[in-house]
Amino acid sequence: MCGIVGYAGGRPCRDILFQGLRKLEYRGYDSAGLSVISDDRLELLHSVGNLDNLEAILDQVGDKGTLGIAHTRWATHGRPSAENAHPHTDCTGRFAIVLNGIVENYLSLRATLQDEGHSFTSETDAEVVAHLIERAYQGSLRQAVVETYRQMEGHFAFCAIAADEPDVIVGMRKETPLVVGLGQGENFVASAVPAFLAETRAVVFPDDGDVVVVGRETVEIFDLDGKRVERLIQTVDWDDEAAEKAGYETFMLKEIHEQPAALADTLAERIAPDGRVALDGLGLSAEDIRRLERVIIVACGTSYHAGLIGEYALERWARVPVEVEVASEFRYRDPVIGPDCLCIAISQSGETADTLAAMRLARRAGAQVLALTNIVGSQATREADGVLFTRAGLEIGVAATKTFLTQVLAVLLFALWMGDRRGLLDGERVRSFTEELRRVPALLSDYLEGGAEGQIEEAAARYAAGRFFMVLGRDVGLPVALEGALKLKEISYVPTEACPAGEMKHGPIALLEEGSPVVVVATDGGVHDKLVSNVQEVRARGARIIAVTSEGNERLAEMADEVFQVPRTDEMLAPLVAVVPLQLFAYYVAKARGEKVDQPRNLAKTVTVE
Ligand code: G6P
Repeated sequence: MCGIVGYAGGRPCRDILFQGLRKLEYRGYDSAGLSVISDDRLELLHSVGNLDNLEAILDQVGDKGTLGIAHTRWATHGRPSAENAHPHTDCTGRFAIVLNGIVENYLSLRATLQDEGHSFTSETDAEVVAHLIERAYQGSLRQAVVETYRQMEGHFAFCAIAADEPDVIVGMRKETPLVVGLGQGENFVASAVPAFLAETRAVVFPDDGDVVVVGRETVEIFDLDGKRVERLIQTVDWDDEAAEKAGYETFMLKEIHEQPAALADTLAERIAPDGRVALDGLGLSAEDIRRLERVIIVACGTSYHAGLIGEYALERWARVPVEVEVASEFRYRDPVIGPDCLCIAISQSGETADTLAAMRLARRAGAQVLALTNIVGSQATREADGVLFTRAGLEIGVAATKTFLTQVLAVLLFALWMGDRRGLLDGERVRSFTEELRRVPALLSDYLEGGAEGQIEEAAARYAAGRFFMVLGRDVGLPVALEGALKLKEISYVPTEACPAGEMKHGPIALLEEGSPVVVVATDGGVHDKLVSNVQEVRARGARIIAVTSEGNERLAEMADEVFQVPRTDEMLAPLVAVVPLQLFAYYVAKARGEKVDQPRNLAKTVTVE
């Protein structure tokens, strides 16, 4: 996790660095700091808590320096404190570093350095980097950084500056993101593009092991042996406005409302004129698809729920056995995988450590690997045989919303594509689904612009003081229930249990008391009658029912205390609409409880540590 930003240019950089951190705050926000070179000396500033606290003391650093690095932290080693906040310095105070990731062998490195007389001021793994650079420095920061990198194990990205070389930042990465932004007479380096999006859209994604030397006029990249290497300059098509709230009170609410556009963008050009699905870049030949015996989907968090929807769709449409695995478990099992398997790794960021590890495991075992991600140039795209991109645009809210919906759309498209290629869905059938998919963005847009949100907000206020929620679903409504429950947990902190409605009798029903709120995902479909029976069972225990139903279904309206009707669509596509009232419900419950929706406690948007 953590966010890094560096600037080298002609303008005073203190405030530029701070604005960069603001854009990266979603990556971590328990402490922050920056270091600026001014008059050949390092100025340093650290604060505990979120960036407001750093802002309050920002003028303790002068605004003359035009080169510096900054960091916003999500603690891994060492509690959030001023001492543990980055940048870290060496014993002499001549070098400063910021790091994202984990230095796995830091304990042994630290012990050796201490034996040699280095004194440490923090509990972090990152501080060793500053001391290693100090030890290796012989007049070239680039050389010292390479020397340091060679001794480090783990996965990380870091940037270093030296008081004696006030014109460069040197950065390196290993399995953790680092991106360079190219400006006019100024350059940037950061963990993610939003940090400098207000300044430039020209970016370079260095590879692992690249030594990036960011100067004011130039950016040079070398390999570990000191040879110059060229990396492609790309233009990102996000604009800075996308990183702002555009009038909404939070990023999460804005992103919920961006879902129709995100779906339309993800769908664009993926439906051929004949109504079949057209997907490029998957890296799968007709032969691969024919001999495929199994699909394994690996993911974490919300992406895992999208994977579960993929399981229903792929089994139903492509008749291929599917397993969906939580990546952190999968990577430490001894899973049976081989060349007849396709591993689909779903990760909006493309940087989640466990998902990347699961991909690597599958690849080593001979499986083909397809990455489903939202981020161009992310690590997952580099390690996969093929990529299926969602096009949700930048998502800042820690609780995923629009990236989830586009993941669901992408797995549905992939399942249709696969069913077609395997000869299991005829053209007519595929066409009827793609026609329906084309309607969904407009359906959702009408839904969001209609009165639904106000009704959900009012209902949420009635339940916000509750101690507990249960969320039930069946069939493809189950992953929707799991995702709705995750939203409630993530942002409202109300303990929430989600379970298959049919499984409730085997335990969770014991939790219900008179008045317990039970959310039921009950859009129309083959198991609707069964679900209605489950609702009766819940009602018989005095619980209150909050039902998500298909427009026009009055049956549940009579039994439920609250009904959130969503636009009617095919039952397999229903998750694309059914999850939206649950996102809004969680949002307004959290808001009514006064929680900070965009920055939920203990969480981070991108989990680059295992
Ligand atoms: C974190 C985020 C979740 C996200 C999960 C997986 O836990 O808070 O919102 O679903 O990581 O992230 P990924 O980028 O791999 O989809």
